[in-house]
Amino acid sequence: MKYVGLDAKDKIIRRFAEYVNPGKVETFQSYDMQFVFGRREGPYVWDAQTGKRLINCHCNGGVFNFGHRNPKIVQALRESLDELDIGNHHLISEQRGLLAEKLSSLMPGDIDCTVFGVGGGEAIDLAIKLARGYTGKFKIISARGGYHGHTGFALATGDEQYRAPFGANLPGFVQIPFNDIDALGIALDNKTAAVIFETIPATLGMPLPDPDYYKKVAEICRRVGALLIIDEVQTGLGRTGKLWGIQNYDTVPDIIVIGKGLSGGIYPMSATCFRRQYMDFFRQNPFIHISTFGGAEVGCPVAAAVLEESSKPEFLRNVNNLATIFAEAFTELKKKHPRILVGLRQLGLMMGIEMVNENCGPLLTKSCYDHGILAIYANNDKRVCQLLPPLIIDRQVAGEIIFGVDAALKDTADFLGLK
Ligand SMILES: Cc1ncc(COP(=O)(O)O)c(C=O)c1O
Repeated sequence: MKYVGLDAKDKIIRRFAEYVNPGKVETFQSYDMQFVFGRREGPYVWDAQTGKRLINCHCNGGVFNFGHRNPKIVQALRESLDELDIGNHHLISEQRGLLAEKLSSLMPGDIDCTVFGVGGGEAIDLAIKLARGYTGKFKIISARGGYHGHTGFALATGDEQYRAPFGANLPGFVQIPFNDIDALGIALDNKTAAVIFETIPATLGMPLPDPDYYKKVAEICRRVGALLIIDEVQTGLGRTGKLWGIQNYDTVPDIIVIGKGLSGGIYPMSATCFRRQYMDFFRQNPFIHISTFGGAEVGCPVAAAVLEESSKPEFLRNVNNLATIFAEAFTELKKKHPRILVGLRQLGLMMGIEMVNENCGPLLTKSCYDHGILAIYANNDKRVCQLLPPLIIDRQVAGEIIFGVDAALKDTADFLGLK
């Protein structure tokens, strides 16, 4: 291979520590998890030197919904490289127009317009800019423990632990408990520009909202003229068994943000999609938001291929069939591991393994790793370990994952001496 495993493992790690991030290296050394991403194919990744194999159930939060190096997605990039490059972000773009038109055909309600970005945080920033710019209001309400990214306004919606080293938070940002309609009713007023939630907050450990939560949220937002921004960076593109997670709640928000999986794991792409009426803001201010690489033309056919594949009924059917397999398996695992397992938080393949205490998430992460599964705990609720397999796996790989998690649950409970 030309790019993988060129040096001895120690050298790869030492170089990374010296030039990129020594703290990360020390953290992974302390867990004895010094995995170096090497060869990758479908649901699997192999260590660059030892050949240790992991099934990727982290998937970077949905980047690898189609597995690693999916042939159809790779082919889309190969072909676009023959004709395209980044393009020009000020001029009219054929590819960006086509991709936005495709998104419009797939988005719920009259969410017809799109501004493209590179990453999720940037697209969230734009959603907040648009909400403030259009409404002329300032206040932004988000969920305590939610996560929308590490850039400016996205960071301001998030938890203090990620903001504290950088000074006081920006004014106008308010956090409330998730899935608490009364708390929202109190926080929401006629100065509110927007309410922003992840459909299912991943970093908070995948708590599922009440079935009618979002309908109520949308209703009270409309009453005061606040926009509802739904972050589908993780829940979008089929993860929950529907193309968009919010469709499970029969609600059409005002703005939907997508990222991660739109890249196909191959070319970065994010999108802020919004109802047509908000286009007035950009008509008056066409150059108010600029992103040099946002919606890079060479990546547009990649994102188009992702949308094409993700919206196929057979693809979504596979996600739902797999979801049933995991649901049934976890019912059995719960009987088998009552010491540690509380249950599976699940909507489609958006899954969180809920356990009895905060030590369990990090330890299960390590045990899963030892049993060949890459699954990372939820940082804002460490009782939960996120389980996000690629959406294209078959029954056999699902069985391998369940087998590994079963063994990891036992090891974790034993290690913690749970009775
Ligand atoms: C729900 C959600 N929104 C936004 C983001 C930010 O995306 P990015 O890291 O591409 O800026 C993330 C990233 O993990 C996320 O999980």
